[in-house]
Amino acid sequence: MCGIVAYVGSRRAYPILIKGLQRLEYRGYDSAGIGLIENNKIVTYKKDGKVNDLISFIGDSSTDGTIGIGHTRWATHGPPNQINSHPHSSSNGKFSLIHNGIIENYLTLKIALEKKGHVFISDTDSEVLIHLIEDVYNSLEKKSSSNNDLLYQAIIIALNEVIGAYAIVILEQGNTQEIFAARKGSPLVIGIGNEEYFVASDASPIIEFTNKVIYLNDGEVAKLNKNEDVIVKTIENKIKSPYVQELEQTLESIEKGGYDHFMLKEIFEQPKSIIDTLRGRINPKTNDIILGGIIDHESRILSADRIIIIACGTSWHSGLIGEYLIEDLARINVEVEYASEFRYKNPILTKKDVVIAISQSGETADTLAALELAKEKGALTLGICNVVGSSITRTTSGGTYTHAGPEIGVASTKAFTTQVTVLTLIALRLSQLKSTVERNNYDFLIKELRLVPQKIEKLLLQNDMIKEIALKFYKATNFLYLGRGVNFPVALEGALKLKEISYIHAEGYPAAEMKHGPIALIDDEMPIVVIANRKDNYEKVVSNIQEVKARGGKLIAIVTEGDQEVKSLADYCIEIPKCFREISPLLTIIPLQLLSYHIALLRECNVDQPRNLAKSVTVE
Ligand code: G6P
Repeated sequence: MCGIVAYVGSRRAYPILIKGLQRLEYRGYDSAGIGLIENNKIVTYKKDGKVNDLISFIGDSSTDGTIGIGHTRWATHGPPNQINSHPHSSSNGKFSLIHNGIIENYLTLKIALEKKGHVFISDTDSEVLIHLIEDVYNSLEKKSSSNNDLLYQAIIIALNEVIGAYAIVILEQGNTQEIFAARKGSPLVIGIGNEEYFVASDASPIIEFTNKVIYLNDGEVAKLNKNEDVIVKTIENKIKSPYVQELEQTLESIEKGGYDHFMLKEIFEQPKSIIDTLRGRINPKTNDIILGGIIDHESRILSADRIIIIACGTSWHSGLIGEYLIEDLARINVEVEYASEFRYKNPILTKKDVVIAISQSGETADTLAALELAKEKGALTLGICNVVGSSITRTTSGGTYTHAGPEIGVASTKAFTTQVTVLTLIALRLSQLKSTVERNNYDFLIKELRLVPQKIEKLLLQNDMIKEIALKFYKATNFLYLGRGVNFPVALEGALKLKEISYIHAEGYPAAEMKHGPIALIDDEMPIVVIANRKDNYEKVVSNIQEVKARGGKLIAIVTEGDQEVKSLADYCIEIPKCFREISPLLTIIPLQLLSYHIALLRECNVDQPRNLAKSVTVE
């Protein structure tokens, strides 16, 4: 969703802002803009479309300032046009703002400001916020004898009037020394350089310049004067000492590294990312699992009435796999909820519940809000996140990082398999503590888990063959994905991947449930992807395949290597290496990711930035 980047220092701000916006493109957006201070005046350029459209629009216009703000907007209030793009200015043009989030009471504020004579030109809630700040500033100016820190004070006072979520950065005309940044509910990182500061929605625009960062906390407002140390105050006007962290991310990790698309790179990175997820978590001698962020909470988990997993999108699918694994291996009751539903359904929650939030970004607004609700009700809250230091990791009492590395493609791939890896580790660890899995079987499962990276390597060799299958089906208008047991969520995820990036309508279904509805869709045009893993209700799936065949559907089957039966029935087969049922989702998903990738490419879709989607959904 909206991306923020800002700079103050002595370098030319324009290239930093543009490159930063390009690094944030993955978040999803539909217009872009920048504001610079040149000759003491704020100059603003905005354009609907992509950052490249903005660059062409700016052309040879002057872009010399050493201070500026940049924004990619994912439309919420008003269409994605030039006027609604950010930055937005105050009435007198003295202040300019970029904003990510939603000001929920913007209408009330707008009406009050209109009564005072403010005129708004855009449909956005963000414009209301900068007018509000201007209004407070004007009244402070009337009362005050000096202009010292007047804007800082005005921002703090104004933010007290605001209900909703925001990450903002503000420029002040004539002030080439400082920018102001604040956050509540939407992410914001400050990079500390040498007499210069960077601000961004995540670290990707910053790591090229510095690895020293501050993650602003909710309700904090920072003054970034290039000649001074950072000053951070809360919106209650209390000074806070900021915690400066060192980033571990590298520049290579956020670049394409020779691949045509980030999605392809991330699919191929999965063997490595799973090795990173497993690293240091399985004792090589004893096979015991050590999850440092959960160890202190194990007794509470073991005595819990149930585990509730909350998540959205792909993370919700990995949660469903977690449910199968934890219930099956550790015999603990698990429920999986869409965070957006959970938070509003008045859930029954007690201190005996454990709530696990799964989120790649760690910033998804619904997941965060659901988590806060669980915390309020006294449940133990844990997180499975990828982004280190993200909001969810700071809200939970403990948890486990997936260590997938930055995921830039909007369609999640390596984040999914690393989440499933963590859930497998949790399920196995709990099974060990509860003695619900015999030691021999446990050791076999650990061995299998360790072999996953090399099995994925082998699977990836089938890329060209999967491309051939894509060629046969890329013009289809509907797809059905079927799976059973632990591979039913994989069918859901396969269907989601396809619709996200190729815009083909696709549905995932439990294979047996097909006859209660989707079977009506099957004709000789309809491709049906079936996961028919040898170790997972195989005979039952074969019966479901027969039902599809009898109706002329075109079958693409994911089978275990050496399979003969399904091969004789299916039109196309993709073989996965032999593996245990519990481990199979980590393999069966790989061909489905590649299939959607190639279909999307053949349909000339924007694989990494599919229309309307956002990588990090920081609004409800
Ligand atoms: C968006 C993304 C999905 C992602 C979902 C949840 O919809 O496009 O790929 O699965 O958000 O995101 P999270 O960061 O919480 O895993």
